[in-house]
Amino acid sequence: MATHSRMPVLRLVVASALIAVLAGGTAVASPESVDEKVRNALQLDQNTERGATLYAKHCAECHGPRALGSASRVIPALAGQRRAYLVKQLTDFSELERASREMHSVVAKPELGNEQAWADLAGFLNSLPRASFPQTGDGRDLELGEAIFQEQCASCHQDDGRGDDDGFIPSVRDQHYSYLVRQMRTIASWHRLNVDADLVRYLDSLDTDEATAVADYLSRMRGPIQDHDRMNSDGTTNN
Ligand code: HEC
Ligand code: HEC
Repeated sequence: MATHSRMPVLRLVVASALIAVLAGGTAVASPESVDEKVRNALQLDQNTERGATLYAKHCAECHGPRALGSASRVIPALAGQRRAYLVKQLTDFSELERASREMHSVVAKPELGNEQAWADLAGFLNSLPRASFPQTGDGRDLELGEAIFQEQCASCHQDDGRGDDDGFIPSVRDQHYSYLVRQMRTIASWHRLNVDADLVRYLDSLDTDEATAVADYLSRMRGPIQDHDRMNSDGTTNN
């Protein structure tokens, strides 16, 4: 991951401005140590059974028994999400690089604040069937949403929204509308420090109607994912 080298000055300015908010006065981890933890976790063997046990004990109460999230509580679906992205987010929460009161107290538990736990949880979550019917928006501006997504976002998130493990890019399909809208707003206001400045600019450039149109379009994406690693011989996927 080279996200930090591309935006060192801006990152430092923003980091110092947000340290108090995010960390309550505790020093934020250095970017090198965050990247190293992500890399280490991705190299470990994943024990998905242990991931399932940890999930049932510590996560299901909020993210749901099948990791489909909750639209009304604005809790994301995690089922089928990219493994590399999941590991990076758990590390970011743990290192206070991403804001979230709920997730900070989760990863503060000794059983959950380590690389093996992140590897096991990510392996388990990635293996789950995706949400088939996430919450959608009002359906009014789907053409606008499609045009913006395919022009400005698909180069990274892929035209079917499936994301990409190599770039730590999340799947943005099979996700609740309310969560997508909220993340597009919060990323634009630097609630995540360990991100490329370009992403913040892309999301900040959308007005409210555009952001809700894209989120609505994404929440309605259906059909097989064009992911050859996971595709059956008839072109369908298990997810
Ligand atoms: C108290 C409720 C709660 C519990 C328990 C909880 N989460 Fe979360 N989780 C949330 C909320 C709320 C968010 C959204 C944070 C935000 O708005 O940025 C979230 C976000 C996430 C994300 C980011 C998803 C994305 O698409 O970026 C991951 C990954 C995650 N949680 C994993 C877990 C795992 C694994 C566990 C158990 C070890 C867990 N969570 C337990 C509430 C919870
Ligand atoms: C340069 C590549 C790139 C482009 C272009 C891009 N994204 Fe992303 N996006 C990312 C990466 C990388 C992340 C994960 C950030 C992190 O690690 O926290 C992300 C995260 C997100 C998330 C949060 C997902 C979650 O589960 O929390 C949403 C929503 C999103 N992008 C939507 C968009 C939209 C809409 C556009 C177009 C306007 C867009 N992105 C353009 C790379 C990109």
